[in-house]
Amino acid sequence: MSEEVKLIVDGKRRDGRALDELRPLKIEAGVLHEADGSALVHWGGNKVIAGVFGPRECLPKHEANPYKALVKCRYTMSPFASKEEHSRSGPNRRSIEISKVIRQVFESLVVSELYPMTQIDIYVDVLQAEGGTRASAITAAAVALADAGIPMKDMACGLAVGKAEDQIILDLGKEEDNSGQSDVPIAISHRDKKFLLLQMDGLLSRDELEQALDMGIVASDKIHELQVDAITRRYSNLESDGVEL
Ligand code: CDP
Repeated sequence: MSEEVKLIVDGKRRDGRALDELRPLKIEAGVLHEADGSALVHWGGNKVIAGVFGPRECLPKHEANPYKALVKCRYTMSPFASKEEHSRSGPNRRSIEISKVIRQVFESLVVSELYPMTQIDIYVDVLQAEGGTRASAITAAAVALADAGIPMKDMACGLAVGKAEDQIILDLGKEEDNSGQSDVPIAISHRDKKFLLLQMDGLLSRDELEQALDMGIVASDKIHELQVDAITRRYSNLESDGVEL
C-alpha cells in the first residue's frame, strides 16, 4: 500500500465501516462429519474452519498427565489463503506462535481436570485470510469445542483492536493490520470479561489501550451472541443461513 492512501477519511474506514464496527461475521457449527466438534467462521474476508477431537488417548503416551487432559492446537494457513502465503506448506514461526497462543486461551477455559490421561486436539485451518486470522481462529475454536460438548468454564471469542490515523479502531482488516499504527489481538471470556490473549504490534498509550480494550469488550458481546446462535441452530434443527464459502 502506498503511504498516501488514508485508512480513515471523515470517520469512515476504507471498507465503509465506522471506527467501532465489526466486519460481517457468520458462524456455523457442526460443519464436519468426522470431527467431534467443528465450526466455520466467515469474518470479513477470513474463512476459517476449526475441528476438535477428544478427549481421546494422549499420544505420545509419556506426555499424558494423570491429573488433566492436555489441550493441543495446530493452526495452519493454507497455501491459497492469501497472495503472501506463496504456497509454502508446513509449520513456520508464525503458525507455531499462533498455535501456541490459541492453545493457551483454551487451556484456561477447558475443564481439563475431568479428563486425566487424555488430550483434546484443536485444529484450525485458514482457508482465506484478510487480517485477524488468529481472532477468527479463536472464535471458531470456541464454537467447535462447545459443539464437541467439551466442558468449559466460560465461552470466549477473539477479535482485534488497534489504531490507524491516530484513531482507535475495532476489528482491523488486512490493510489496517499491515499498515496501521497498532494491532492488538485479544481474546475475551464472555462472563468474566477476562483477557485470555493480549498481544500488541505497534504502540498505544495507556489511555488508548484502555479505550481500545473497552471497545473490544463491547464487541465481544456481539460475537458471543453469534457463537451462541450457531450452537443453538446446530442443536435445534432450525433453518440455518449457512456460511457461504
Ligand atoms: O492473521 P493475524 O492478523 O492474526 O496475524 P498476522 O500475522 O498479524 O497477519 C496479518 C494478516 O496478514 C493475516 O491475517 C493475513 O491476511 C496476512 N498474512 C498473509 O496473508 N500471509 C502470511 N503468511 C501472513 C500474514
